[in-house]
Amino acid sequence: MSITAATRVYGVIGDPVGHSLSPVLHNAWIADHKLDAVYVALTVKSDDPVAAIRALDGFAGLNVTVPHKEAAAKAAARSEGLVANVLRREDDGSLSGFNTDGLGFLDALAEGAPDWRARVRRVLILGAGGAALGIGQALSPYVDTIHIANRTATRGEQTAAAIPNGRTARWDDLERAFGHADLIVQTTTLGMADQPEMEWPVGLCRPNAIIADIVYRPLETPLLAAARARGLTAIDGLGMLIHQGARSFELWFGIKPDVLKARERLLAALA
Ligand code: ATR
Repeated sequence: MSITAATRVYGVIGDPVGHSLSPVLHNAWIADHKLDAVYVALTVKSDDPVAAIRALDGFAGLNVTVPHKEAAAKAAARSEGLVANVLRREDDGSLSGFNTDGLGFLDALAEGAPDWRARVRRVLILGAGGAALGIGQALSPYVDTIHIANRTATRGEQTAAAIPNGRTARWDDLERAFGHADLIVQTTTLGMADQPEMEWPVGLCRPNAIIADIVYRPLETPLLAAARARGLTAIDGLGMLIHQGARSFELWFGIKPDVLKARERLLAALA
C-alpha cells in the first residue's frame, strides 16, 4: 500500500525508541490486513511530556514507552488507569488511554505455561517500575500473594502497596524469596545486553516453578538459561511484547492480529 495524505499514522513514542521492535510488529500486521496505515518510532524528549503528547494530534494511535507512560495517561481525556501504554484517537479528536502491558503479560504466561493458574499461588516480582506494577496488578486476582523485591526498598514498598495482595521481599535475601515462589517475573534491566548481570539463586527454586523474564535482548537471558538448565518452565520477553502489541492493534483497528507470525518476524529481526 503506498503512503498518501489519507494514510493514518500510528507510532511508538518514548526516549529512547531507536531499538524498538514495535514498528516491525505493527507494520507487518498492517500489511497482513491491507490497511491504509503506517507505524513509526518517534523520540519524544520534553520537559512537558503531557503537552508534547497532546501536540501529536496527527497521530491516530500511539504506543507509549519509558519514560512517558504516566504523561500519556494524563494527556488522555479518559484513561483506564494512571499509566497508559496505548493511546487511541476517537472520532471527536480526543484521546483515550489504555494499558495492555499487564494483560499482554498474562497472555504470554498462558502461552508458555497453559496450566499456570493451577500451579501459581505465590509470585515474586523482581523490580518495582512500571512494568512490575502493571504485571502485579494483572496477576493479583489470580494468586494468593505477590512479593516485590527491589534494589531500592522504598520504591518496592510503594509498588507493593499499589497491588491488593502485594508484599515486599528483601533484595539482599533473594534466596528466601526464590525458594518460596511458584512464579518469578524479572522486570529489571539486569541481564539486558550491555547491562549488568546478576547471580540469581535459581538452584533454590521449587521444581515446578515458572520463570519469566521481560527482557528480550538477549532472548535467552542468564536467568532463563539457568532456569532451563534446571528443567524449569522458562518464558522469554518476546511474548509480552507481542501480546501487548496485539491488544494495542485490536484497540486501534478492531482486528485480532496473528501472534504466531509475529514471533517468527521478530525472531528474524532480532537475529
Ligand atoms: P519500567 O517502567 O520499564 O519497569 P523502570 O521504572 O526504569 O522501568 O524500572 C526499572 C527497574 O529495574 C527498577 O526496579 C530498578 O530498581 P531501582 O528502583 O532500585 O532503581 C531496576 N534496576 C535497574 N538497574 C538495576 C540494577 N543494576 N540492579 C538492580 N535493579 C536494577
